[in-house]
Amino acid sequence: MGACHFQDLLLLFLVGASTLIMAQKLFCQKGTFVGIQEDPADTFNWTSEKVETCDNGALCQETILLIGTAGTKAAILATKSCSLDGTPAITFIQHAAAPGLVAISYSNYCEDPFCNNREGLYDIWRTQETEEEAKGTTGLRCPTCLALGSCLSAPSLACPNDTDRCYQGKLEVSEGNINSVLEIKGCTSIIGCRLMAGVFKVGPLWVKETCPFRSISARKVDSGATWFHTSVWKLKLLLMLLLFVLGGSASGP
Ligand SMILES: *[C@@H]1O[C@H](CO)[C@@H](O)[C@H](O)[C@H]1NC(C)=O
Ligand SMILES: *[C@@H]1O[C@H](CO)[C@@H](O)[C@H](O)[C@H]1NC(C)=O
Repeated sequence: MGACHFQDLLLLFLVGASTLIMAQKLFCQKGTFVGIQEDPADTFNWTSEKVETCDNGALCQETILLIGTAGTKAAILATKSCSLDGTPAITFIQHAAAPGLVAISYSNYCEDPFCNNREGLYDIWRTQETEEEAKGTTGLRCPTCLALGSCLSAPSLACPNDTDRCYQGKLEVSEGNINSVLEIKGCTSIIGCRLMAGVFKVGPLWVKETCPFRSISARKVDSGATWFHTSVWKLKLLLMLLLFVLGGSASGP
């Protein structure tokens, strides 16, 4: 009787386990978008009609990176999919704030079926527009452009108040389905090559920021190279001296 009871329990356990496994099959929206769009808060619909069936233990994720100038156009890099890493959480980062160039990212990892179902960006990007600025009072002008790949032209435009320098850089964004380069030029108050504020991972996206015209760091590298040359030269001199001394003692009495 005891054995029979145990078998019942085992059966119950097996049934329970299999329904648990069934319940763990998760479906998520799947899609990627890379593009430049006018006023994305009003025009962008992030809904994806595609469905992905996840492996066990996965979450749904939706991640977006937005770079641009408030009130005008923005570059959008967005992805929705199953994800095997990450924990359920929403992360919103304002990497660079208005006035001038804006960089924000939003990432949502969640565990319910089709929970990566965000449609619009109005509450993400709209917040940027509340800081809409009056232009051209500082007298500063910067080459301004935003392009996938490379900018074909970068007209010099008047900068808004409270910006004091020009930014010129590139972002390389990569993930399974996204592999894009973005060129960005414009007014800002951020110092150095820090449009992303040093963040290099946004959800599943890897982001690499490079700026071609960084005079300060370029000078550092130069002086480093000079130091290297002189020390090599000194080392050679030392070696010659040593050989001379050794040679001298070898041929001595
Ligand atoms: C976005 O697209 C989906 C389907 O394509 C649609 O059902 C939804 O209403 C759209 N949302 C907005 C805000 O236009
Ligand atoms: C811009 O800054 C200048 C100098 O600080 C100030 O006089 C002017 O009122 C500012 N303009 C706006 C629109 O805020």
